[in-house]
Amino acid sequence: MLESVAAASSGGLSAQAEPSDAAPPPTLRLITCGSVDDGKSTLIGRLLFEQSLIFDDQFAALERDSKRHGTTGDDIDFALLVDGLEAEREQGITIDVAYRYVSTPRRAFIIADTPGHEQYTRNMATAASSASLAILLVDARKGLLTQTCRHAAIVSLIGIKHVVLAVNKIDLTGFDEAGFHKIVADFKAFAATLGFASITPIPISARHGDNVSEKSSNTPWHKGPALLSFLETVDVEEDQSAKPFRFPVQWVNRPHLDFRGFAGTIASGSVRPGDEIVVAGSGKISKVARIVAADGDLASAGAGEAVTLTLEDELDIARGDLLSDAKSRPEVSDQFAAHLIWMSEDKLMPGRSYLLKSGAKTVPVTVTELKHRIDVNTLGELPARTLSLNEVGVCNLATATPIAFDPYTDNHTTGSFILIDRATNATAAAGLISFGLRRATNIHRHGLSIGKLDRARLNNQKPAVLWFTGLSGSGKSTISNLVESWLYAHGMRTILLDGDNIRHGLNKNLGFTEVDRVENIRRVGEVAKLMTDAGLIVLCSFISPFNAERQLVRDLLDDGEFLEIFVDTPIEDCIARDPKGLYKKALAGEIKNFTGVDQRYEAPQNPEMIVARDGQTPQQAAAAIVKELIRRGFIDSFADPGDDFSI
Ligand code: ADX
Repeated sequence: MLESVAAASSGGLSAQAEPSDAAPPPTLRLITCGSVDDGKSTLIGRLLFEQSLIFDDQFAALERDSKRHGTTGDDIDFALLVDGLEAEREQGITIDVAYRYVSTPRRAFIIADTPGHEQYTRNMATAASSASLAILLVDARKGLLTQTCRHAAIVSLIGIKHVVLAVNKIDLTGFDEAGFHKIVADFKAFAATLGFASITPIPISARHGDNVSEKSSNTPWHKGPALLSFLETVDVEEDQSAKPFRFPVQWVNRPHLDFRGFAGTIASGSVRPGDEIVVAGSGKISKVARIVAADGDLASAGAGEAVTLTLEDELDIARGDLLSDAKSRPEVSDQFAAHLIWMSEDKLMPGRSYLLKSGAKTVPVTVTELKHRIDVNTLGELPARTLSLNEVGVCNLATATPIAFDPYTDNHTTGSFILIDRATNATAAAGLISFGLRRATNIHRHGLSIGKLDRARLNNQKPAVLWFTGLSGSGKSTISNLVESWLYAHGMRTILLDGDNIRHGLNKNLGFTEVDRVENIRRVGEVAKLMTDAGLIVLCSFISPFNAERQLVRDLLDDGEFLEIFVDTPIEDCIARDPKGLYKKALAGEIKNFTGVDQRYEAPQNPEMIVARDGQTPQQAAAAIVKELIRRGFIDSFADPGDDFSI
């Protein structure tokens, strides 16, 4: 990862600081990291007020908003994680980041500041997502703290390449040169693997102004620049135009039959009429016919420009597709590895279905494997089964349909995404893609000659999954057993999967934490699907306390195949029955995570059937279920069981 860690410490930089006729350097977006104690507020205050900087806040914010909402907006710099993070703001998650818009005669700045003593990863990551330089503040007396390392690690994770190590309160050490060099050496040792392109150490006193806007005579040993002149001249721009062409389609513009344009903002690279492009997902190729902009057609357009492209051929292209340079294509895969920064109070559930949003594309996704968590203080790898708020992990993910992407290190726009919780619609995580997983592209489904309907037809039945959900002791096993016995007696091919039994074999490595229950049901769902492929009527009897996983199983199956049967015995009755004596233990605190006692049960919102209510006996419940199977055409109506039955 290590690139050139070049301390930009030659005094030459400040010599360039004179205003000239050359175009001013582009706006610098930066983030300040450090706690109030490190003097962050003092530093920002000094930069803002004492250097008579012009406050641009209102003006720039307005300008930006109008650009954003107008059709020619060109906010590429925000595009990084920002597509996602903006979606997140729309979803009402508050992220504590303040943006300050300021400018000097030489340069404009946008400073992202995460306030407060505790800078949580989520806020830091949000602030860092639009920055290209970070100022890390260190207290000269305290040296490198865990917190500094954490900030540096997050900054590097988010892809910021340039760091100013501002060693503050240098006056309080008597302008101690040796102390300063020790901090710099410690930091460089820690940051060696973080891949920063430049680390610029500057000894400052935010309170007294040493080396803030002008070089200080108190530190004659400091050969580098003062902070402000460095910020005014530093070149941090990655040349987005030199990268391969990437154009996420925001919408398809079809005002009349003769015009079909694809509108969006060029994420990277440039484009001219005649260029060959590929629709990444389908692999279909065409050439750019026109580049339409507000003021007429363009001869070329580059990264950051919002344009509408028309193509020479009629291709099937929709919102969310990625148009790309045909000779330098993005990866297309439904499995990839990524870093996740967890942003939700609800923990990550590997195996649960979330939505992945990247640009304008949204697809269902699951985390198939959480490889490890990253200790953001040491960058060490920690074993983990879940991620909590502000934790960072390395995961494999699988999407329901393939997506086109680039590794985040190559392209911040096409390499980032957010995860959305399907139940609450809130942002669960920000993701940075590392690489596609080869095995995904090397495994293909075989086309088989005999389908599940062929297999089922031999038995005169339609495959189905009867999913019994309810509290422990609610009667799921008893009722499902009665139903299966009846089906068997009438010549049906069935299989019964039961929680207690499956947990002795396939799932014997799973317990009862939320994470384990999610995995329990995911595996059972996959098994049930295989069994329906065998043409069977599959009875599943599991507490399955969470809506998300029952929905996951429903989604795995064909329409109409999944019948959710809610065994709605009141918990008081379950406790009174207590067939295995487990409620007694759970209520005494001897068993943890017991459903209905210290872990929640989410009742089905729209089940196909509800049984066991109002004192309905197991026999009556079973009879009602069989009648429903007949009514839905899963089995022939040759033997209506009546309202009650015994085998
Ligand atoms: S599920 O929640 O993951 O669907 P499952 O149906 O497989 O649970 O297993 C539930 C069975 O495990 C219960 O019927 C009970 O016998 C047993 N069990 C042991 N500990 C617990 C617990 N903490 N919570 C619920 N059931 C438990």
